[in-house]
Amino acid sequence: MKVIVTGGAGFIGANFLNQLVPALPEHHFVNVDKLTYAANLGSLQAIDSLPNYDLRRVDITDRDAVDAVFEEFDPDLVVHFAAESHVDRSILGPREFIRTNIEGTFNLLEACRSRWSRDDSRLFHHVSTDEVYGSLGDTGLFEETTAYDPSSPYSASKAASDHIVRAYHRTYGLPIKITNCSNNYGPMQFPEKLIPLMILNALERKALPIYGQGLNVRDWLYVTDHCDAIWTVIQKGSVGRTYNIGGNNEMRNIDVVDTLCKIVAEETGVDPGELLGLKQFVTDRPGHDLRYAIDATRIKEECGWEPKETFDTGIRKTVQWYLSNQDWVSDVRSGDYRKWMDLNYGDRTG
Ligand code: NAD
Ligand code: TYD
Repeated sequence: MKVIVTGGAGFIGANFLNQLVPALPEHHFVNVDKLTYAANLGSLQAIDSLPNYDLRRVDITDRDAVDAVFEEFDPDLVVHFAAESHVDRSILGPREFIRTNIEGTFNLLEACRSRWSRDDSRLFHHVSTDEVYGSLGDTGLFEETTAYDPSSPYSASKAASDHIVRAYHRTYGLPIKITNCSNNYGPMQFPEKLIPLMILNALERKALPIYGQGLNVRDWLYVTDHCDAIWTVIQKGSVGRTYNIGGNNEMRNIDVVDTLCKIVAEETGVDPGELLGLKQFVTDRPGHDLRYAIDATRIKEECGWEPKETFDTGIRKTVQWYLSNQDWVSDVRSGDYRKWMDLNYGDRTG
């Protein structure tokens, strides 16, 4: 089988390729990635010389480039991760989110439609987020039937792309599946996101910026569990159907940060109090969703998937990964990253 994986140099895509490329030598994987700031080729070192792996530097907003890569590889399966993925960046500059997440997805769908509408031996698998459902109050869970109600330019662009993917199934018979997953954490996540940012700031004894009062709740899933879930849905899910993926692990941000301080302290032999003292409450994110939580009954009952990692096991592995991969860390924390930190946190902490 020939598989195009878009965004395979980003956090989740790279974990997905690292799991599958060595395990499935009979499949050929092509990573289609623009290599934005969020990509890191260092994340693909273990697989980049394997014979069943190729990389093509393609911007999915470039229709001709997308067509050319489909002509070259004629994929049976497209697993679509590529996106602008960070909520705070979408607030400060939404244009790239509209282009990549909506127009880029549209270009991929058009490439599929012109080649294999109604051919159920093929599949377009769209990787999406639970943020499309908006915010929960103190109770309740997102189900696959929950109405879309996105809050940020990021989640609105992902919601739009989900709708277009579903429309291609209903209108053109394109074989698609969609997964909507909660917050991921684990190795190789770009340190603009909460968990790696806090680990690395704690290691450097920098302030740990907590938005608002730290009372917002997220459901955290270890990244390899998400990758397993996607592959399971590709194998066992029904065409045209949506599956929610979650870790059954809701936590307030403040509790995530406290846990991280304790584990980083344990792993590095320092006093936890020193790291806990770095916490700093800063101006809240505009439109900050209060709570995300997933009802993952459908994927469990129809596909037999459940997460393997608990937060305790996953978060320790994550801290250990960042501690033992300092080269990867210094690669991503270069000039552009510093500019981002000044832009995003400059006004909040003053
Ligand atoms: P990421 O930001 O780490 O990586 C995104 C990748 O897409 C990068 O390699 C980047 O170079 C590539 N890319 C961006 N724009 C592109 C373009 N125009 N053309 C081609 N490639 C482009 O993102 P991630 O955290 O790995 O998320 C992957 C997918 O999973 C996204 O669709 C995201 O919405 C979804 N998702 C993420 C999470 C999470 O917690 N990170 C949770 C649920 C769903
Ligand atoms: P993030 O990792 O950006 O994921 P998302 O916004 O997609 O859920 O943020 C997770 C939570 O952590 C979210 O409630 C915002 C909060 N947060 C902070 O409190 N401080 C930070 O510096 C960051 C990046 C996030």
